Amino acid sequence: MLDRVLATIESRRHQSLSALKELLSIPSVSAKPEHKNDMVRCATWLADQLKYAGLETAIMATGGHPCVVAKNKHEKGRPTILFYGHYDVQPPEPLEQWTSPAFEPTVRKDENGYNAVYARGAVDDKGQVWCHIEALLAWQANGGLPVNITVLIEGEEEVGSEHLEAFIHTHREALKADICVISDTGQFDRGVPAITYSLRGLVYEEIFLTGPSHDLHSGGYGGAVPNPANILCEVLGSLHDKEGRVTIPGFYDDVQKLSDTERDMWSRLPHDDEAFAAELKVPFLNGEKGYSTLERLWARPTLDINGLTAGYQGHGAKTVIGATASAKVSMRLVPNQDPIKIREAFEKTVKDRLPKNVQVRFESHGCSPAAIVPIDNLATRLAAEAVEAGFGKQPTFIRCGGSIPVVGTIKKELGIDTLLIGFGLPDDRVHSPNEKFDLDSFYAGQKVAAVLYDKLAKLNG
Ligand code: BES
Ligand code: MN
Ligand code: MN
Repeated sequence: MLDRVLATIESRRHQSLSALKELLSIPSVSAKPEHKNDMVRCATWLADQLKYAGLETAIMATGGHPCVVAKNKHEKGRPTILFYGHYDVQPPEPLEQWTSPAFEPTVRKDENGYNAVYARGAVDDKGQVWCHIEALLAWQANGGLPVNITVLIEGEEEVGSEHLEAFIHTHREALKADICVISDTGQFDRGVPAITYSLRGLVYEEIFLTGPSHDLHSGGYGGAVPNPANILCEVLGSLHDKEGRVTIPGFYDDVQKLSDTERDMWSRLPHDDEAFAAELKVPFLNGEKGYSTLERLWARPTLDINGLTAGYQGHGAKTVIGATASAKVSMRLVPNQDPIKIREAFEKTVKDRLPKNVQVRFESHGCSPAAIVPIDNLATRLAAEAVEAGFGKQPTFIRCGGSIPVVGTIKKELGIDTLLIGFGLPDDRVHSPNEKFDLDSFYAGQKVAAVLYDKLAKLNG
């Protein structure tokens, strides 16, 4: 039967790309209230596709954007797979940097001559979700899937999956499964397919400083009053030392030490710092002293300013001391760090380092721990076979510097592990202008998904 499924996939190359382009043309930007209707439209579009595949499908309300949930007929004695994906995307700005508009998906060659579809969400995560739906469609057209499947596609991943934990908790019986499958990560490189076994966690905080009661002439007042912009910069500047370490007391206390085996494994991956820097057009890289780039990205916690607002932001010069200043700061966490503890330590450090003549307020935008998934098990071996069938090469086992908050939630609420099988490439520009999904990877990903569902039938139900 698998042969026929794969033949169906092969015959639908053109249709599958058209379908993905339709999905990509819906601007499902979860962060922006003005896209609320587009979110519903996107969920509805996906639900229609899953219904067409013969799954029992529902659009379910959460405290925020809705989830799409779909199931085939669950039969006793077969394993149950929970497939998770997200239909929301990051805001497309800055718009002027897109070669073709963010929500007008366009196929063209990338810098290396490979065909890719360009659009916001192309690889993160609509294209990867579509690989799985394409596989479901093919199985359903050839006698049905060999496993029980529950599809869960959420609309708030890019804003921290705020309502998903409560949703999964409420529906934990309906979502019960033996294993979860997510394709929202990447390959190590072209020709180096991968299975990811760890994600970093995230604590995202916004700092608001208030100084004088109103904006002031910087000549009339400068030098005599607290300037929130200066003070904010000073505090933010103090958060790293000269060796690239974060200076928040206790920040590294619980960090899981990197094992020699892992260090050794990663040092043998085909990574080149110079090429990495060259691609980003920076003369050289930087980071925490004593660690390689992959170690810094995968196994070390970090702190980065993600947004900064202060003083006059318009064109040209204005001599002014702004009354307020603010910064968005994200911290990536590694296994064993407690996000709540880190958040508290961050707030305390900032408060302690501020002079008493400015006021500070914090807003939290999400907080999730790092995830580590076991790979010494049957499910992972089956997944590795599926990856090999799709990409023609055995997968490498890698970590990922990004975060997918639901992985921890699924473990906590449903008690199951997740297979992280990513189809993206490192130069896909996730969250950036000109995001793309490589078409070879798109088609290989469909194949991986189709084979995966066949292989996972061997798990005990
Ligand atoms: N798909 C990404 C995670 C990812 C990033 C995988 C880079 C591979 C490489 C996911 O959609 C994402 O962006 N997650 C956010 C989570 C946050 C908003 C809570 C992230 O990592 O910033
Ligand atoms: Mn994603
Ligand atoms: Mn993302």
